[in-house]
Amino acid sequence: MFELYLDTADLAQVARFNACLPVHGITTNPSILAKSTQRLSQLLPALTEILGEHSQNFVQVISEDVNAMVDEAERLIELPYNLVVKIPATEIGLSAIKRLKARNLPVLATAIYSVQQGFLAALCGADYLAPYVNRIDTFGMDGVGVVADLQLLLDKHHLPSKLLPASFKNTQQVLDVLKLGVASITLPIEVADQLFGHPAVNPAVQQFGLDWQSVFGNKLAYEV
Ligand code: E4P
Repeated sequence: MFELYLDTADLAQVARFNACLPVHGITTNPSILAKSTQRLSQLLPALTEILGEHSQNFVQVISEDVNAMVDEAERLIELPYNLVVKIPATEIGLSAIKRLKARNLPVLATAIYSVQQGFLAALCGADYLAPYVNRIDTFGMDGVGVVADLQLLLDKHHLPSKLLPASFKNTQQVLDVLKLGVASITLPIEVADQLFGHPAVNPAVQQFGLDWQSVFGNKLAYEV
């Protein structure tokens, strides 16, 4: 089943979107957590309160060498929350991913800027791959194209990694990756907000109300 994530640690926004959408969990990175200033020990219980204990959430390791990454990832996974650890898909990160997957621990390969890099992470067994769509675009390259080629390679080689495209700045990028059949996506709040927006929607709904009231006043549908 398709997995929808929010790329934020803003709990008020998580609660808002969870009320109207099937939010699977949140993705974070060190910048998102630093901006929110919340400690994980505060964030995770509050998040579980909002999304329930079956939600799945993503936290990135801070360590920079292989042993420390593996150790940090293990400590995160031991916490009583359903966490997937994010490991940058660098040479060092791939070593950590390989070791973690040898023990079947849940891993997302992050900071993916190229097809080749994502493919290597898939070969190392990463459960999720996070290509950075908008950041790739800002290099003058094709973020959606990278996602398309990665999906093609996953399918061609029957690799079980799921694509979890990240880094969006507009809804067209979102639509373009959804059409590729990706298994999941993570949306920043500003972009999730825009998904609701079409200038014709509210006027259409208001007109229904006006038409109804002109004939039936304040009665409800089951009352007439
Ligand atoms: C998620 O895995 C990434 O850390 C995040 O989506 C990057 O998004 P940004 O390019 O908007 O910072």
